[in-house]
Amino acid sequence: MIPSLIYLDRYRNEGTRTYSSHADYSEAEERFRPETGVEHFPVPAYFVPREEVNLYLADPHPRLLSLFSRGGEVVFCVHPQLSARPGVDPYLDRLLSLPEAPGIIEASPSSSTRTVFVKDSEPPHALKLHFPFRVSRYGRRMRDEVVEQAVTVSRELEEGIRAMDPDFAFLREVLGVTFKNLQPETPRGENWGFLVRELTPFPSAGAEGALVPGFALYGRDFLEPSADRLIHTLVGEQDPNAFLLNQIMLPIVRHWVTCFLKFGLLLEPHGQNVLLEMGPDGTVDRIVHRDLNLGIDNRRRTDLGLSVGGTNTYNQMETGEFCSITYDKFMGGHFFDYLAACAVERYSTLDLAGLREACREEFLRLFPHHEEYLPRTVQYFSETRDRFGKPTFMDTGKAPEWRP
Ligand SMILES: Nc1ncnc2c1ncn2[C@@H]1O[C@H](COP(=O)(O)OP(=O)(O)O)[C@@H](O)[C@H]1O
Ligand SMILES: [Mg+2]
Repeated sequence: MIPSLIYLDRYRNEGTRTYSSHADYSEAEERFRPETGVEHFPVPAYFVPREEVNLYLADPHPRLLSLFSRGGEVVFCVHPQLSARPGVDPYLDRLLSLPEAPGIIEASPSSSTRTVFVKDSEPPHALKLHFPFRVSRYGRRMRDEVVEQAVTVSRELEEGIRAMDPDFAFLREVLGVTFKNLQPETPRGENWGFLVRELTPFPSAGAEGALVPGFALYGRDFLEPSADRLIHTLVGEQDPNAFLLNQIMLPIVRHWVTCFLKFGLLLEPHGQNVLLEMGPDGTVDRIVHRDLNLGIDNRRRTDLGLSVGGTNTYNQMETGEFCSITYDKFMGGHFFDYLAACAVERYSTLDLAGLREACREEFLRLFPHHEEYLPRTVQYFSETRDRFGKPTFMDTGKAPEWRP
């Protein structure tokens, strides 16, 4: 009854990206986009001598490790939209000068465009590829510190998984490859690579339930616009408030708070970064988080006695703005508000104020000292950018709705 993850990820995302003026923007060629793209395309891959790359590992499945690391060489993957543009990037030119790895990797675009699902892969995995073209607000680079950070976060969450609720799961980012930095004079490392993401949720649950991207609950079907929205099908005759709260919203609020309190990591649970793992009876067994390029709150990590910084400064926060962006905007504004708006179209009993109040209470119960870390007002990205093109933060002045 529930379509496959790949189908939902590609085609059930219509009408969901209206939360900012950039959200619908893409420089990806039509054939590489999730909705209009081809079913599969070949992902170019080259043998690169081991000494030319950084290899980051977080406990990969041995078969995955042997796919990408072969003796003295690694198999280095590149997005075909980039490999078709030699002459603009020294790392790309080096890559294109090397022997191609035999055996064609076929993959389908996912909702994020630059992460691609590898066809018939065992164990099932995706590749998050360097894509220096803009999708939504950002150019989608996989610079070395970005790759390293995701693998480090994956390892840390895996090792500390017992601190999280049993209904928390995530997609591990088990292997990353980047070129070593050939231009140490640049103000930040522009050397890039790719990540390998396992598609079996961790911890392993034995029997595997269907995976549903958050946005697919309320997104329209690109190929079949009149199809019922999934949230209406799942709720059926049940109480929509209880379903949304107990199966989706409260678990995610708890995950965000616990991950912050125990690890100083800022989950980004917008509709694209969470997957619902469905049980056989149409209930949600677990929430599976994907995309581990998380904000790192150095204030909380210092208070916990956890390591901070080192040489990798990517996404390290010393102040609370990004806490608000991830919680108030990504989760509350870009996900929960959309979900509630879709539900109210079918269920007149849906009580948005009640849902928000219940989330506020749960947040306060788990995190009574939240004012030590989170700003009192909602923050968001401004239209100003720093010298690397990264948007800076701004204070919207608005009161939060999904927390006190
Ligand atoms: N409904 C949605 N909500 C938020 N982001 C979305 C949605 N659909 C697609 N996206 C895209 O997801 C991308 C973010 O994910 P990204 O970090 O690129 O990859 P991944 O999630 O695979 O690690 C952005 O380009 C954004 O435009
Ligand atoms: Mg994402």
